[in-house]
Amino acid sequence: MLTKLAKQLGLDFPIFAFTHCRDVVAAVTNAGGIGVLGATGFSPEKLQIELDWIDDKVGNRPYGVDVIIPKRFEGRGEGNIDKQRELVKSAIPDGYKEFARNLLDEGGIPPLPPGKKLEDRLSMTDAISAPLVDVALSHKNCRLIANALGTPPENVIKQVQDAGVMIGALCGSPKHAQYHVDAGLDFIIAQGGEGGGHTGTIGSMVLWPEVVKIAGNIPVIAAGGIGSGRQMHAALALGAQGVWCGSIWLTTTDAETSEASKQSMFDASSSDTVRSKSFTGKHVRMLRNKWTDAWDAPGNPDSLGSPMQMMMAGESIVRMNRHPEKSQDYFFNPVGQIVGSMNKSISARDQVMEFVTEYLEVNEELNNLLPEG
Ligand SMILES: Cc1cc2nc3c(=O)[nH]c(=O)nc-3n(C[C@H](O)[C@H](O)[C@H](O)COP(=O)(O)O)c2cc1C
Repeated sequence: MLTKLAKQLGLDFPIFAFTHCRDVVAAVTNAGGIGVLGATGFSPEKLQIELDWIDDKVGNRPYGVDVIIPKRFEGRGEGNIDKQRELVKSAIPDGYKEFARNLLDEGGIPPLPPGKKLEDRLSMTDAISAPLVDVALSHKNCRLIANALGTPPENVIKQVQDAGVMIGALCGSPKHAQYHVDAGLDFIIAQGGEGGGHTGTIGSMVLWPEVVKIAGNIPVIAAGGIGSGRQMHAALALGAQGVWCGSIWLTTTDAETSEASKQSMFDASSSDTVRSKSFTGKHVRMLRNKWTDAWDAPGNPDSLGSPMQMMMAGESIVRMNRHPEKSQDYFFNPVGQIVGSMNKSISARDQVMEFVTEYLEVNEELNNLLPEG
């Protein structure tokens, strides 16, 4: 099970855990895999605090940090955050915030108190992510940086590699894998369309070997639909050097996922997710609900692009978070199709051990398939 990539990173098992929760990062890293902290949405100050905390828990073991710098978005290349924010804000047409407000009114979710001022939140841009990369690189146990939604800008690739840290990126199609190869990335995460979060349409079974072929000597990590040792076995058989999982950690006891969201995931089947642009402006696989249905319904406004839709939805997200008990049918719950098999809550450490145990059992099972004699 120890692949070249896992050995290079100092792992016992080639299990990469994408998560927004520092506890999950530390637990998976300490269990012999590697936790990767999703830093999108964090300020540099908050990321500093989280990584200092993780450093304290993991000794010399490695972890990673993930940022989002999409290939295309309104305001790309504008290095000044305030200017970028203004550009994005001015690209939100009239009527959109109104539509979102009415939607939550209909759902009985109380409005914000009069006079409450909200900052226009910007995320998923180069100007926002650059300081996060600086913070990550100032922590010596941060051994990898990953980027979602495109090949990282050339200067970021150079900065990370010059610091002796590996840099890779997610991709959902062979075309995007080729861009990553051409840019000289150190690893590629091939995410099939069944995965949670931003995702394409090609299924893992088809995508992984396609990307492995294109990547040549660059290691490929398989993502999308992996929640068991059996699925991990399949990923390595298809040429991957590791597995990158996101959904499975959401219902672990270490995760900060709200009890209400955990319950929605326990209740969901593998057909209850949808790819929708309704929160971030790019296709995200998440639990289908009244919010996604409304934005995807014909005749209603189409979701905006990125990062306008996210900025526009900011007010609604704050509103939902203030009244979680009334917002169950509207929440942003990114999760992949494996949600249908996520029906118990164990610790992240035990989850890693379950992966390993089942992987070994499958080895045994395959050996037993050989005819005797
Ligand atoms: C709640 C959630 C949030 C995610 N956010 C990000 C993100 O910020 N950056 C990123 O690179 N990938 C993100 N992803 C995708 C994961 O990195 C991973 O590729 C994906 O979850 C793998 O598929 P799986 O959900 O079937 O395990 C997210 C996934 C989930 C479930």
